[in-house]
Amino acid sequence: MQRKKLMAANWKMYKTPDETRGFFTIFLPLVRDHDRDEIVVCPPYVDLATALESVRGSNIAVGAQNVHWGKEGAFTGEISPTMLLAVGCTHVIIGHSERRQYFGETDDTVNLKLKAVLETSLTPIVCVGEVLEEREAGLTEDVLRRQCTRAFYKISAKKATKLVIAYEPVWAIGTGKTATPQIASEAHRLIRSEAAKTFGQEFADRLRILYGGSVKPENAKALMSEDELDGALVGGASLDPKSFAAIVKY
Ligand code: PGA
Repeated sequence: MQRKKLMAANWKMYKTPDETRGFFTIFLPLVRDHDRDEIVVCPPYVDLATALESVRGSNIAVGAQNVHWGKEGAFTGEISPTMLLAVGCTHVIIGHSERRQYFGETDDTVNLKLKAVLETSLTPIVCVGEVLEEREAGLTEDVLRRQCTRAFYKISAKKATKLVIAYEPVWAIGTGKTATPQIASEAHRLIRSEAAKTFGQEFADRLRILYGGSVKPENAKALMSEDELDGALVGGASLDPKSFAAIVKY
């Protein structure tokens, strides 16, 4: 099944609005005619307005890195799906391992966020992935199954049409250690079969599963050549416009 790849940048806590503008000044001309893949950049909240202004009229979408599940309320420091839509975001990352590791994100909050986002027109990118100890203990499959089942809890295939998953083995994030294309494909197949169990085979065949974890211009081609890999979620290497453009154009 031919799935259009999604090449996503996750800037994490990097760049000011000025630096954001500077990034797009170099990045946009490099990918101007690129329509083979979808491209989305997810900067910090404070850069969203600048990013959206910079990409206006281009083939680049803008997303956020996190979201709350409520519409509005007394939740200091949080941002709702409706707010992201109101400024012009089209995508949002949910359950990144850094949120799970440092900010108390759980499988249950991932599920709440996913449900809320699927009530809107935003495209959710749900991150799953095992830590090194889990991989070494042979628990990768159990972890991925649990993260998927709980993320998908009480969500229908009809509601989930826009769902995108990112497989991000935590041991590969920011470490320079990339999963081999084979290791990534194996995990992607498992995630796809979990999606098939919940949402049906047809849905699973259409589901885009991105790979994330030390994707670089040097390894993008080998990874993206795997049928199972429907794009990339790129952290460190997406901060430099030339390097992210090289990955997009692998
Ligand atoms: P990395 O991060 O590319 O720097 O490994 C990927 C991610 O955390 O999304």
